[in-house]
Amino acid sequence: MKAASDVKAASNVKAALGAKPAGAEDESSAAQMVRQMFNSIAPRYDLLNHVLSANIDRVWWNRAARRFHGVLADPDAAVLDICCGTGDMTMALLKHRPNGARPILAADFARAMLVRGAGKFDGHGAVALEADALHLPLRNESLDLIVTAFGFRNLANYVAGLSEFHRVLKPGGQLGILDFSEPGGLVGRAYAVYFRRVLPAIGRMICGKDGPYNYLPASVGSFPDPPAMRALMQSVGFTESSWEPYTFGIAGLYTATKPIVVG
Ligand SMILES: C[S@@+](CC[C@H](N)C(=O)[O-])C[C@H]1O[C@@H](n2cnc3c(N)ncnc32)[C@H](O)[C@@H]1O
Repeated sequence: MKAASDVKAASNVKAALGAKPAGAEDESSAAQMVRQMFNSIAPRYDLLNHVLSANIDRVWWNRAARRFHGVLADPDAAVLDICCGTGDMTMALLKHRPNGARPILAADFARAMLVRGAGKFDGHGAVALEADALHLPLRNESLDLIVTAFGFRNLANYVAGLSEFHRVLKPGGQLGILDFSEPGGLVGRAYAVYFRRVLPAIGRMICGKDGPYNYLPASVGSFPDPPAMRALMQSVGFTESSWEPYTFGIAGLYTATKPIVVG
């Protein structure tokens, strides 16, 4: 049973929810622009990530993976890393897989990102799948765990993404969404200056383009806050939703479960 406040919060944010790069007119053009953007920055993506986050991203991927150690340790568990990009979240998940475990599916819709990811995880317990998170080529109730790192925020329709995750998870299956957030207080104000001014300038310098690193702070700014995200997850049928802040809330891990319906 959803709390009335959850439903109200979800309906308040549902209307305009999804990534909207500047110039996107609808969901399909937004998705296309996101895909093109990631294809174009793929060669520099890892370098930029590590420079811009001072390598804290590694700590975040590992911490998120540890949270799911229980399910990852089961060799038969069916696991999807969606929006896997260049594969660092996948590599963190693989540390928890026993020898001979079923391969992790690592999926992304930007081929240039996925090719780089496959270069890291191919032959080490994961397989690459070129796929759109909003239309997964997977059977209903076929997965035990879906994880996504810094990808969910880029989906053109968040509710459609969550519904698709809910469709392919087995009852009892778990969802983990690692993404940026906007911390409050003093840390938040200092971070906002870095995120909105310094980061786009460094990004522009390293990748030689303006767009992607202006889009990043804008997309975080329009991403639902933790109570709204949790309400969205609940609104499509997930339960036990939670948000764990990482590094003063600069990033955080959302988790939720697809409930087992009895009777
Ligand atoms: C910021 S990168 C994150 C990559 C990786 N997970 C990481 O933590 O570094 C976001 C990724 O999401 C992918 N993505 C965005 N929308 C997608 C969609 N609808 N379907 C599949 N992948 C998508 C992009 O192509 C990109 O590779």
